[in-house]
Amino acid sequence: MSAANLLAADLAVAFLATVGWIGAAVTLGTGRLLLARALCALAATASLARVATTAALAAEGWWFAQEKVTLTLPLLLAGGVTAAVLAGPRVFGGARPAGGRAVAGLLIAGYAAAAGLVFPLLIGYPATWSAALLTVTLVGAATLVTWRAAGAVPRAGTALVALAGVVGAGLAFVPGGTVDSGGVPSRLAAGQARPVSALRGPTEPAPGGTVRRYDLSARQATITLASGRTVAAWTYNGQVPGPAITAVEGDLIEVTLRNQDIDRGVTLHWHGYDVPNAEDGVPGVTQDAVLPGQDYTYRFLANQVGTYWYHTHQVSDRGVRMGLYGTLVVAPRGAASTGLDMTIPVHTFAGKVVFGTHDRAEVRRVSQGTTVRLRLVNTDSTPRRFTFAGAPYRLVAVDGNDLNGPGELSRAALRLPAGGRYDLAFTMPDGPVALLAGDDLMTGLRLSPDGSAPAVENTADWPELDLTRYGTPAPAPFGREDRHFTMVLDRGVRLTGGPKYAYTINGRAYPDTPTQVVRADDLVRVTVVNRGLETHPWHLHGHRVFVLAKDGRAPTGSPLLLDTFDVRPGEVWEVGFRATNPGLWMNHCHNLSHADLGMALHLAYEGVASSFHGGHS
Ligand code: C2O
Ligand code: CU
Repeated sequence: MSAANLLAADLAVAFLATVGWIGAAVTLGTGRLLLARALCALAATASLARVATTAALAAEGWWFAQEKVTLTLPLLLAGGVTAAVLAGPRVFGGARPAGGRAVAGLLIAGYAAAAGLVFPLLIGYPATWSAALLTVTLVGAATLVTWRAAGAVPRAGTALVALAGVVGAGLAFVPGGTVDSGGVPSRLAAGQARPVSALRGPTEPAPGGTVRRYDLSARQATITLASGRTVAAWTYNGQVPGPAITAVEGDLIEVTLRNQDIDRGVTLHWHGYDVPNAEDGVPGVTQDAVLPGQDYTYRFLANQVGTYWYHTHQVSDRGVRMGLYGTLVVAPRGAASTGLDMTIPVHTFAGKVVFGTHDRAEVRRVSQGTTVRLRLVNTDSTPRRFTFAGAPYRLVAVDGNDLNGPGELSRAALRLPAGGRYDLAFTMPDGPVALLAGDDLMTGLRLSPDGSAPAVENTADWPELDLTRYGTPAPAPFGREDRHFTMVLDRGVRLTGGPKYAYTINGRAYPDTPTQVVRADDLVRVTVVNRGLETHPWHLHGHRVFVLAKDGRAPTGSPLLLDTFDVRPGEVWEVGFRATNPGLWMNHCHNLSHADLGMALHLAYEGVASSFHGGHS
């Protein structure tokens, strides 16, 4: 069973144990002995099953089982023993009427079982001393109340429970109560540090390059999709997607952003582009948000070839959803472009998939033999499944980086992470081809030699391509790392910055998350573990990461250099990068609503200090 299934199975048996013990108490109390017996048997079986799920999870990685081994399973077993001692003779010996203590014993087991269900959902990884003591306090308090109702007088117990509660509550205010992420707070004398604002891009292109100037003005507008449908949007220059930015390797890209009327401010972040830090567009970290009437000019060298995109990083969840994004494509110098080259940002507007501006199938005439490159960009916050029908094709680049020896594909589905890019290449056949999103036959792109768009077969059962097995291996040297960070992703109720059901990293929600500190030139390894029930598209700014392993297995295909990778429930990714771009960088989930609810932290180079304060969202 996969870790994700084990996590779900563990919740399911925790639920059955809870229902079983409490149900047994109720039925015993009302004299239905046979039913009480059956429920006891169910509860005992489910409780023992938790031993098995916990052991299996621990084998998958300590992160998956930590709070179960240290807290909820011992609690459950103690509850089970209590039930056996107090209620066993009554339930299975058949003595009537049921004594209050027998019912109490079953209830106590029920409270203990409930902790195994509630803790992972409400608190999440990890069980800190504080959270553990508070849980014990709650179960203990419920036990005492029940026990007293059964006619016993629990003096020593009351004192113990009260003590656990006080200590637990006290520990909640001790900083650093979470597991070590490898992160430490950056402590630098202000005088030593280089400010982020000094880390600007060049003002001249590379030799032979030119300056590509763009003016982007952020404003609200009503845009019209290809079908004629209108959408209230936030736009760059009144259009969604914003102006397509293109350059040739070695050019200088210079973009002046103005804000007309986006009240909460805007920025431009160059997703996947390793720009100098002050050009990265993160409000509160690398610049201040550009408010209405203000402007900011970004400059950086087009030194990475491939498909990228830009988007606002201020109130990014809402801003990107509303349309503040566009594409950035850099062509290699000296390579004459031939054939058809299309860049297609795919976005959801009011629940409808839109390719560029096409909310219905777009049909284009393309003559047979044309070489075609389709650059797909997922501008949504959730992964998107694509299928391509009608001709064999190759997935030639991922996140702007060419794959090594990509083989021919057909009848394969591609799953593109939020924020990610795939470049598809093929030669136009003598018949039509179709690119579908989510197997939706009503939208997508159709190319055909005669401009017709015949029906496309259903692609819903095409298997998904495993990127870690695609293409040809090549040496991807990654020696012994200088630093190692672990990020365990989960959910839980957190109180800082207003109570919320946060998305957490090692138990913390931004801005409480510890900073990962590196030194220039460090080789850094990062382990990302998903303990939750949702996919987390992980995105580090300023660096591309090498995939070292997924679930303990190194890729067997092309080396993978990514800026966004989907960590699905139960998955463990190992990635590595060389710290060659000094600055303060965001490291976050690109499901932007998750980032908004805490799933973000900073990667900081020693000797760099932010010149900006707050304002980041
Ligand atoms: Cu594309 Cu920090 O984001
Ligand atoms: Cu996420």
